[in-house]
Amino acid sequence: MFTKEDNQVLDRILQARWTCRSFSDEIPYKEEVEAVIEAGRIAPFASISSKDVTPFRHFFVLFKGDPRLQVIDRLIREQSAVDLEMAEAEAEVDPFLMEHMPGLRGLWSNVAQNGVPVFPDPPCMIVAAEWRGARRAERQSLAHMMENMWLKATALNLDFGLLSVIESMVDNQEFCDLFGLPVERYGFLACVLGHHKGEVRTAHPATAEIHWPEDC
Ligand SMILES: Cc1cc2nc3c(=O)[nH]c(=O)nc-3n(C[C@H](O)[C@H](O)[C@H](O)COP(=O)(O)O)c2cc1C
Repeated sequence: MFTKEDNQVLDRILQARWTCRSFSDEIPYKEEVEAVIEAGRIAPFASISSKDVTPFRHFFVLFKGDPRLQVIDRLIREQSAVDLEMAEAEAEVDPFLMEHMPGLRGLWSNVAQNGVPVFPDPPCMIVAAEWRGARRAERQSLAHMMENMWLKATALNLDFGLLSVIESMVDNQEFCDLFGLPVERYGFLACVLGHHKGEVRTAHPATAEIHWPEDC
């Protein structure tokens, strides 16, 4: 059983979680990274396909200075250009997408030209890979995994940033080769772990409305 105090601590961690997009050079300790990964390891997974391979979940740790980070920096730019090209084609037959293309175009072409701000040398990048199986639920599993890792990082006073562009690497041969995984068989998601440089956001920007039943 958890105590009232345990519950209050959980609330504090949930409130404190935020997206960090600017990191100092300070590299997190191996034990801290290990604890964050353990939180990801125990996150929910879509079990129907998980028995196909052992292990079905992998974590690759890349610390500042790892030459693979330079390669990933280039692959992110190239992949963003490909993603933009695909979105442009899709927009031709999707009026909603076409209407919103200017924003997407600005974002993705900026990443294609300049990369993502935390690169080329983030303090610590964790690439998570999840077996896709026939169920193809790896993206949801990866999101659950990252949320667990994010909360654990927060509890350890580490800062965390998601790198969702890494999701697009599923069929990128060069990216899969970096980690010795077969192309198209694993979904990917990644994060940066470290210590913030500059301001910490304190207020939560999320908007939501609760729709209670009328007799409540
Ligand atoms: C599916 C998903 C993808 C995201 N991708 C990125 C990303 O690639 N880069 C980034 O800096 N933040 C990314 N974020 C973080 C959101 O921008 C962030 O959670 C949101 O702005 C709310 O801010 P907060 O996390 O500080 O509460 C992503 C969040 C989600 C849920």
